[in-house]
Amino acid sequence: MSTATHPVLPHVTNFVGTPRKMLIDGQWVAAQSGKTFETYNPATGEVLARVAEGDMADVDLAVRAARRAFEDGPWGTMTASARAKLLWRLADLIDAHTDELAQLESLDNGKPVGVAKVADVPLAAELFRYMAGWCTKLDGATLSLSVPYLPGSQFHAYTRREPVGVVGQIIPWNFPLLMAAWKLGPALATGNTVVLKPAEQTPLTALRLAELFEEAGFPNGVVNVVPGYGETAGAALVAHPGVDKIAFTGSTEVGKLIVKAAAGNLKKVTLELGGKSPNVVFADSDVDAAIAGAANAIFFNHGQCCCAGSRLFVEQSIFDRVVEGVAAAAKKMVIGHGMDPGNHMGPLVSQEQLDRVTGFLESGREQGANFVTGGKRHGTTGYFVEPTVMTNTRDDMKVIQEEIFGPVVAAIPFRDVDAVVKQANNSVYGLAAGIWTKDVSKAHRLAGRLRAGTVWVNCYNVFDASMPFGGYKQSGWGREMGKEALELYTETKAVCIQI
Ligand code: NAI
Ligand code: MG
Repeated sequence: MSTATHPVLPHVTNFVGTPRKMLIDGQWVAAQSGKTFETYNPATGEVLARVAEGDMADVDLAVRAARRAFEDGPWGTMTASARAKLLWRLADLIDAHTDELAQLESLDNGKPVGVAKVADVPLAAELFRYMAGWCTKLDGATLSLSVPYLPGSQFHAYTRREPVGVVGQIIPWNFPLLMAAWKLGPALATGNTVVLKPAEQTPLTALRLAELFEEAGFPNGVVNVVPGYGETAGAALVAHPGVDKIAFTGSTEVGKLIVKAAAGNLKKVTLELGGKSPNVVFADSDVDAAIAGAANAIFFNHGQCCCAGSRLFVEQSIFDRVVEGVAAAAKKMVIGHGMDPGNHMGPLVSQEQLDRVTGFLESGREQGANFVTGGKRHGTTGYFVEPTVMTNTRDDMKVIQEEIFGPVVAAIPFRDVDAVVKQANNSVYGLAAGIWTKDVSKAHRLAGRLRAGTVWVNCYNVFDASMPFGGYKQSGWGREMGKEALELYTETKAVCIQI
């Protein structure tokens, strides 16, 4: 493990060195309770920063501020073009602070700073630009009515898309800045106001982003950021009667709690949850590309991706070659502090995730899985896990049924297309899938048969603001990004006029 770390920018040192407050109604305030919590550097386990701990009282203030901003503030009457300009300005500010945001993300989450710089930060900026373009293009339809019980009458009827209102957004720690962007972009483009709760493990980039929202000139109360724990601040937001919609990304377990808790005022709910995504490699693929792609599918972001290609199905005739190739890629990965630009893989986000992932490895071992490489914690400080390739698994094992959310892949041989479709779809999840083949017809046919919200062919982990992302089955409700996301942040109003 390399220990040399990149020099931290003075602004970043200053940001983490100062206790962080929360943004409510355009004011940076302490928690009503006066409480704070600590966020840790997962590479060392040391305290990184101290953050105001939001709870029910703070959430209530934030929701009221968001309601005022929605109903009475300048936001509601702002032209679509003015809204677009604000979002575009925010994107430019994100670009201008790329290094700083990438460092904050690396320190708080553990991911390699170089990855944050080329992926997380620019994807967040592009998401806001893409959504800015939609502000001026939200349209409805004119309708042709033929009301049978009103013969001879004429109508002019049309639909409008209107914002849902006050939206509560709860995001996870695996892509803290990017998840904030995925959530905030469509909500703001369509004219909603927001209370965002970042994950307790990684609140820092959302708080820095909130400063950039202010700098861009968003009116007070349009974006409020309340850091805090899920069971307190998160649960208070979900239960709040003043919230019209909850958008959540996280575990399927908490997703189910949210559905129940939202029943009080029947707020709208969208969910982006777990996955156990199949990645299917055929013998007629570019096998070297498939090996590199399969390694990226599971090891990117240390496997902490809801869409991670964690079940690698390989056609029997090339099974050994692909397993060896992915294992060789795993062994080559340099593991260490995300701030060292020479490292490929950083730590998991927390002690809790380290325990969870090593628990899965233990269970795989007990149930008879074979570890081709990896299989345990890496080092003794920080929350590092070895990139791991398993074989000899069975479909009823915990490591095949459940989301591990770490750099752990199970390679499974298959003989024919029908069998692999059945096995790939044999999951409670349906978030993503991969296919590797040069046979175009086979790729299209299989893409149609896999029960997943995204299917990548001869690539994996390709994201774009224009491409909807979300899950079938227990991977969620609704879609992020694309124009599909806008529909979930608007209500359709039908207006009917007798003429
Ligand atoms: P989690 O689902 O508990 O946390 C995600 C977010 O939900 C955080 O902001 C958290 O504060 C909040 N939250 C937690 N309990 C809540 C509640 N009762 N009401 C409202 N909000 C609540 O996920 P956790 O515990 O961090 O990770 C556990 C597992 O979840 C991971 O191992 C992974 O399998 C999965 N996960 C999936 C993610 C995805 O991208 N789909 C992201 C993070 C975790
Ligand atoms: Mg949890």
